Order: sequence, then C-alpha cells, then structure tokens
Amino acid sequence: MPKCFAWLIMLSLFLLLLILSQTQTSTSAVIQTTIKNMKSSIQSKVLETKLNIHRKLPLLPDKSEIFTDFCNASLEYKARPYRPDLPILYIITPTYTRREQVVEMVRMSHTLLHVDNVVWILAEDSDKCSPLVESMLQRFKMPYVHLVSPMPAMYKTEKYKPRGVASRRAGLNWVLANHDKSKKGIVYFADDDNTYDLKIFEELRKTQRVSVFPVGFVGSKGSPGITSPIVKNGKVVGFSDDWFASRMFPVDMAGFAINVEFLASRPEASMPFWAGYEEDVFIQTLDIKLEYLEPLANDCTEVLVWHTKTVSEKTPKVRLTEHLDTNLKSLVQDIVFKGMDTYDKKLSKNELKVCFDANRCDKYSNL
Ligand code: UGA
Ligand code: MN
Repeated sequence: MPKCFAWLIMLSLFLLLLILSQTQTSTSAVIQTTIKNMKSSIQSKVLETKLNIHRKLPLLPDKSEIFTDFCNASLEYKARPYRPDLPILYIITPTYTRREQVVEMVRMSHTLLHVDNVVWILAEDSDKCSPLVESMLQRFKMPYVHLVSPMPAMYKTEKYKPRGVASRRAGLNWVLANHDKSKKGIVYFADDDNTYDLKIFEELRKTQRVSVFPVGFVGSKGSPGITSPIVKNGKVVGFSDDWFASRMFPVDMAGFAINVEFLASRPEASMPFWAGYEEDVFIQTLDIKLEYLEPLANDCTEVLVWHTKTVSEKTPKVRLTEHLDTNLKSLVQDIVFKGMDTYDKKLSKNELKVCFDANRCDKYSNL
C-alpha cells in the first residue's frame, strides 16, 4: 500500500512538472511574439520592457494618430535681455483647459520671469489653439512657443492615461528643429502645476548630458514624499523612490534635464505613451549609463522642485442680466474668458449676487 502511494505521488509530481514547463514555454512564446508584434508596430525603435505586454497598447501609436499644430511663437527676449554667456533653457510644459489653468499659468510664468534665457514651450493637450493661453503668453513678454498636440484617441480610455506625453514630444521636436546649434541649450520638462525654486534653473544650466536631482511631494500618502538619485563620491549609484515598478531609471518627470546637443546625438530618443514609465523609457532611449548621470542640487542634497496641486472644482455657472452699466459686465466676461466660469443665459439661480448699500449687505446672510 505505501509503495503504491509513493508511486502515485511521484507520478503526480511528474505531471505537475510537465504542466508547469509547458505553461512556461507557452508564456514565454506569447511574450516573444507580443514583443515582436509590438516592435514591428511602433514607428521608431523604443526599448521595449517586458511589463508593457500586460497593457495591450503600443508605446507609440501609428504616426497618423499623432497630431501637432503650431499656434504661435515669439522668440524675442523682452522681459529680460538675452544673456549670451548663459545656456538657453527650453522649458517644455504640457497644459490643458480646466478651471484652474489660468492660475497655474500666472504662477508658473511669474516664476519663469525671474530666470534668464528661458524659452517657454507650452503645448496644449488639445487639437485647437486656445485664445486664452495665447493671450496670456503674449502678455508675459518672454520668449515662448505655443503648440497643440492632443493625446492620441487610443490612450484616452486607459485607466492610467499618459498625460502630457503628446505635448512633450511636440516640444522636443520643436527644440530639435529650431535650436541654434552654436548655442548651448538645456531641455527641462516642467508640468504647469509644480512649484519651482529659482535655484533649480541655475542648476539645470550645468547639464552636459543628462542631469538628475530630487523632487518633493511624490509617492503615495504616508511615504516620505521624495524621489532622489543616490549619490556617492559625486556619482549617481542608485535611486530612492516610493514606486520602483521594475523601472531601470526610477526618475520623476521634474527630476531630470537633458543637454540639447546630447539629445540631438540620440536620434532614437523617444518618450512613450505609457503612464508611469514615460521618464524611465525615455531615459533608456537616451542610451546613457548610470555613472554618466550628473547629480545636481548640491549632489542631490537639496529639494528644489515639488509636485503641487491646485484644488480642482467643477466649473460653476454665472449669469448677469442686470447692472450691465457697471464693471460687472466686463468682469463676468473676464472670468468666463479665463475659464473660471461658464456663462449661463437661463437659470436665475446663477445670477451674480449683488448689494448696493453697504448698510444693507447684511441682509444677504449665508448663515
Ligand atoms: C505626474 C508626472 O509628474 C507627470 O509628468 C506625468 O505626466 C503624470 O504624472 C502622469 O503620468 O500622468 P501628476 O501631478 O500626477 O504628474 O499629473 P498632472 O499634473 O495632472 O499632469 C501632468 C502634466 O500633464 C501637467 O502639466 C498637466 O497640465 C498635463 N496634463 C494633464 C495634460 O496635458 N492633459 C491632461 O489630461 C492632464
Ligand atoms: Mn501635477
């Protein structure tokens, strides 16, 4: 009896091993064909990583799915004179229409207005150039490029969308096509809602190939909220991050910059439409070894840039049918133009509340 049991156990073990090995070969066969199919489906060569196969979508869509339009540009240094002794900073900022966009643009432009030789490349996630964005850019009097490049439709249904990728790619193409090669230039991807210490911009100018530095307020709640290269004896030897996710370069979008000459020497460089992996795959395609990454911010000992977020609210409605002979008429036009409200012709409940006699305003108690 025990002999029979032993045989049974051995037989089932053998069967189990057989099944396992077959599943493995078929899984790896699937991986191989998927990667092969994907490689042939993407336009330019992008380093494929094994994780993307779970996603079913390619890192890049067909070229016909990418739309980019040039809205306007002014490359005159009006607010601050051009400094020939300093490298140019190409600040590529993805942006999109929402209620708080105007606030982010005011805040970010007023940071950039303190910095010499900035060319602000603002690329909208839209197929149309927004008159609001254009009017603001004209007012700031700094060199700017206004582009649009919407997220390709195929990525819009994803749970985690590759936000800002189309914009950054459009910005990169503009830099590569328009940078004056006799000058030194640096590219930095700066989201419109982050907070930037002015020191970071002076640091960026040092970038010879690819520079890296810490970014604050990233990661999940309860984490230390910092991502940073690990630096030893002046060299990058690793990374600290709350979310490694099999990334080769766990770097945040705001945590690195690229020298334009170096970028131009890497025609394969390409940012993928893959949420969470944009930076990693992009740096991989820059074909740079860890030891060549240049640590900034005093050998990565200082946080000089943070993720911040303005509270987002549903755009309210406003109506104004009376007192059209006062400032309110133009003021309402302004808040509607700035995207803070939408105009409502119908509902009286959206009528702007007014009070004309200070002594009687207390009757409008909201208590
Ligand atoms: C983080 C990263 O810092 C971003 O660089 C990255 O694009 C993003 O995650 C992502 O992978 O989705 P986070 O603060 O979570 O940033 O995202 P947002 O600030 O909402 O968006 C990043 C940038 O993309 C902003 O400049 C924003 O204006 C722009 N964006 C956002 C669009 O262009 N379209 C959108 O639908 C949403
Ligand atoms: Mn953000």
